[in-house]
Amino acid sequence: MQDLLPHGGLIRKVWIAEAGRYLDHLLRLDTDSRRSRFGGAVSDAVVRHYAERSLGIGTVVHGFFVDGILRGAAELKTFGGPMAREAEAALSIEQRWQSHGVGSALLTRTLLAARNRGIKFLHMACLADNRRMQQLARKFDAELSFDFGSVVGEVATPRPTPLSLTRELMADGHSLATAMLDVQTRLLKPGRGSSDTGLTLELR
Ligand SMILES: CC(C)(COP(=O)(O)OP(=O)(O)OC[C@H]1O[C@@H](n2cnc3c(N)ncnc32)[C@H](O)[C@@H]1OP(=O)(O)O)[C@@H](O)C(=O)NCCC(=O)NCCS
Repeated sequence: MQDLLPHGGLIRKVWIAEAGRYLDHLLRLDTDSRRSRFGGAVSDAVVRHYAERSLGIGTVVHGFFVDGILRGAAELKTFGGPMAREAEAALSIEQRWQSHGVGSALLTRTLLAARNRGIKFLHMACLADNRRMQQLARKFDAELSFDFGSVVGEVATPRPTPLSLTRELMADGHSLATAMLDVQTRLLKPGRGSSDTGLTLELR
């Protein structure tokens, strides 16, 4: 599954070993975006605490990468064990990459992942003044009925189909190949410091 993304970016799943990259991305969010993402003003310490625990079993994070740097993410977190029918979704795009369709592309992937996991209800904590997120959710009317009062979206077609599973597998296969190429390219580039996106994490 290939989306038309700005700045030659790509979308792929974020691996557990990339928690450092996820943290760096969340810390780079500007004040307003951080407030929108976390539902209020939160400190760096809170973001750090959150990121340390966010990648793991029951969570699928899709990332938007530009030049190997994570610039956007969509988190799908199921609750209630392996048979969970409910999940929470949260999106974060760094300011420079907002309003270029990245949120739409990430939500498409997240809904596919939710569907393939049999999720029926998707919770999205969204501040009332977050027009862009509301607009974005409206674009997915056919797949997601969204009630901003109770912030619960119902995934209209929750059951996985062979096609929906294949689409996710194909996207993952493509992502893995691109991610490996990305690591190799970055290893060959001289003078890249580890602070720009946790290259060291990839090598472990
Ligand atoms: C909300 C957010 C995820 C949206 O992602 P995005 O990449 O900026 O959104 P998109 O470019 O895909 O645009 C989605 C829709 O929003 C609308 N939109 C875009 N920019 C907008 C703006 N500045 N104001 C209002 N609506 C806007 C458009 O109608 C667009 O639909 P279209 O493609 O049919 O025109 C992103 O801006 C973000 O991370 N914001 C900060 C954190 C946040 O609010 N997270 C959500 C809490 S879960």
